[in-house]
Amino acid sequence: MKRIPVGILGATGEVGQKFVVNLQNHPWFEIRELYASERSAGLTYARAVGYGESESRWFLKETPNEEILEIKVKNVREAAGGECKVYFSALPSKVALEIEGEIAKQHPVVSTASAYRYFEDSFTYLPGVNEEHVAMIEVQQRSRGWKGFVVPQPNCTTIGLVLSLKPIYDRFGLQEVIMTSMQSVSGAGYGAVVEWAKQRREQGGDLPSELSEYRPKLFEGNVIPYIEKEEEKVKKETVKLLGKFENGKIFPAEFKIACKCNRVPVLHGHTESVFIRTREPATVEELKRTWSEYRGEPQHLKLPSAAERPIVVMKERDRPQPRFDVLIEKGMAAVVGGVEANIFENGFQYTVLSHNTELGAAKGAVLAAEYLYKIGRIK
Ligand SMILES: NC(=O)c1ccc[n+]([C@@H]2O[C@H](COP(=O)([O-])OP(=O)(O)OC[C@H]3O[C@@H](n4cnc5c(N)ncnc54)[C@H](OP(=O)(O)O)[C@@H]3O)[C@@H](O)[C@H]2O)c1
Repeated sequence: MKRIPVGILGATGEVGQKFVVNLQNHPWFEIRELYASERSAGLTYARAVGYGESESRWFLKETPNEEILEIKVKNVREAAGGECKVYFSALPSKVALEIEGEIAKQHPVVSTASAYRYFEDSFTYLPGVNEEHVAMIEVQQRSRGWKGFVVPQPNCTTIGLVLSLKPIYDRFGLQEVIMTSMQSVSGAGYGAVVEWAKQRREQGGDLPSELSEYRPKLFEGNVIPYIEKEEEKVKKETVKLLGKFENGKIFPAEFKIACKCNRVPVLHGHTESVFIRTREPATVEELKRTWSEYRGEPQHLKLPSAAERPIVVMKERDRPQPRFDVLIEKGMAAVVGGVEANIFENGFQYTVLSHNTELGAAKGAVLAAEYLYKIGRIK
């Protein structure tokens, strides 16, 4: 099969690098163009990420393929003139608003940035949850006169929560959802690592060979009980993702939701304590079975990046734990545990863990693109 040429925007950053490793041996897609800021433009990808150099910005254990390392990185401002059939975006949101919109005039864009999440004519797509919202693409194309589209991924904190709520909402309904997150530090982008490395140099310290291993030290022994705009994003996106698509609009699901988000010293994986009240009575066993049996479109269509089990229920009382469980189903599942009934009427509580830079970022966006390709939205 001839593979579809794809481009990556923000290819040198944390999520961009993940796009590279998830796309470089993909059965359907082939990386042809890499874009970043003017700082990286004109350099080979190897030079731009300092691959193999002492001050490397390559964060991952995986190795980029030789032909990828040799691609010349271009300035994202040139991307609208590119020749790929789809663009994956890992740009900071402010830049994404302008650049993704320019590209979408001609080409599809699948994005991890939040720029196009909240417009009337836009939606976020979480594979296995809201395939019916994909029809919003036509609404977006009509309202903006685009031939392409922008499909943003939901916020990484929303993803684990919504995946766990979806089958429960469908079967028992929901009255209330209250969530407290314990989010890993790998959501902060490479800027935080560079800053930390600078501080270490100033203090005469050695630079670690693999920066990512040291990243939690920025936050070591600490909890930061505030992540800018995170709670608003989670609340807004959750009810929209579970909402109904009718007459070109998405009507948000009607349950109450509150949340509190925290950054904790964990490298990868967002852990969330969730309290729910269902509409219909349920038992703990029924909830567990509903999760375990759940399969969505990515599983029915056997998409290459899909987890076999999108929701995994752990039996042990003290799991899931990010250190041990974040890579279950290669980081593409919501891992649920500690399910209990509580004192409230139809009240339950559980823990859910999801991988913020796999399902929650690049690999999740690749899965979204696989679905869009399979249904003919990417040609
Ligand atoms: N990290 C996560 O867990 C996560 C999860 C979900 C979604 N996201 C979203 O994904 C996006 C990327 O996040 P990240 O963590 O990968 O960020 P990052 O590590 O800071 O990388 C940013 C990328 O964008 C480029 N860039 C920065 N400023 C630019 C500018 N003014 N013009 C053009 N290009 C510019 C950088 O290029 P240079 O290298 O040339 O500077 C780099 O390639 C963000 O929108 C973020 O909110 C992140």
